[in-house]
Amino acid sequence: MRFQDEFFGSEAQQSVSRRARDLWQICAKDGQLAYNGRIVTVVGDIGAETGDKLMCLARLQGSTTCHFLPIDKIETVKTAVEASGLSSNVWQFCTGRQSAYDAARQILETYQLPPDLTVARIDARTDAFLVAGFAKMAADCGVLVMAGRVMRGLDIEGITLAAVDKSGQPVASAWGYKCYPEQSAFSNYAFWGGLSCRKDRRGQKIALILGAIAIVQLWEELQVRGFCTGVTAGNTASFSVCEKLGVLSSNWVGLGVTDPTMFGGGTLTK
Ligand SMILES: CC(C)(COP(=O)(O)OP(=O)(O)OC[C@H]1O[C@@H](n2cnc3c(N)ncnc32)[C@H](O)[C@@H]1OP(=O)(O)O)[C@@H](O)C(=O)NCCC(=O)NCCS
Repeated sequence: MRFQDEFFGSEAQQSVSRRARDLWQICAKDGQLAYNGRIVTVVGDIGAETGDKLMCLARLQGSTTCHFLPIDKIETVKTAVEASGLSSNVWQFCTGRQSAYDAARQILETYQLPPDLTVARIDARTDAFLVAGFAKMAADCGVLVMAGRVMRGLDIEGITLAAVDKSGQPVASAWGYKCYPEQSAFSNYAFWGGLSCRKDRRGQKIALILGAIAIVQLWEELQVRGFCTGVTAGNTASFSVCEKLGVLSSNWVGLGVTDPTMFGGGTLTK
């Protein structure tokens, strides 16, 4: 299957995604940064430079995030970026290691997907039409997918899963990307999650099972040993699914930094 570079979401989201892809071509060897198919992010607290790098990345791309920012650093970094006219938002950073793998194995031993569904792992051969349908389904749930080349496993190591019904329609998503630099303390973590489920199929444990499959495949095939995800305060459903999979609140947050002229005060994604 031939495909062109695929970008999804609103015009502003696509613009960020394109800029991130190009920026990554020139900073892939920087051990303080990571690319996950949406944006180039700062990884962890990098001292006094944390705020400055976030400001530069947000101005260049339209948005960025600091993953694994220690909770006690939030105020300092937030104050610095907001003083420069950028807006910020905080996600709880939920993480899990062996306990997440064990919980995921247990879930897969206990539950099965409804019989009309199959799991598709997106790769270079996946029909572009399915990838676009997958992106649309996730967007309808408020979740921004990664650039197509990342979902297809071409630009960074990762796994993108769709639950597909008998008519070929994607109904749920889960993924994980081993995106953190070798030089960082987080190199064996995957940025995991992307859990979404079409409204009419919720409550059937589809997202739970798909999230568990992603964890097991990341652990067994890509030697991932940690899972992390950002969850917005108040997203009870997401917290609950993560908790069942052993991915729990930590002493880190994700700090989003956004150019308000591109997102009108909103954020890049949920
Ligand atoms: C998060 C989401 C994928 C969950 O889908 P779902 O089909 O409802 O979830 P599942 O059936 O797989 O649920 C598994 C467990 O999650 C919990 N859960 C799901 N929705 C819940 C809610 N609204 N409140 C509390 N717990 C909830 C339940 O404990 C459930 O287990 P149970 O059936 O034993 O009670 C879905 O709500 C969604 O697409 N939300 C919008 C996208 C989103 O916010 N994604 C997270 C991005 S970070």
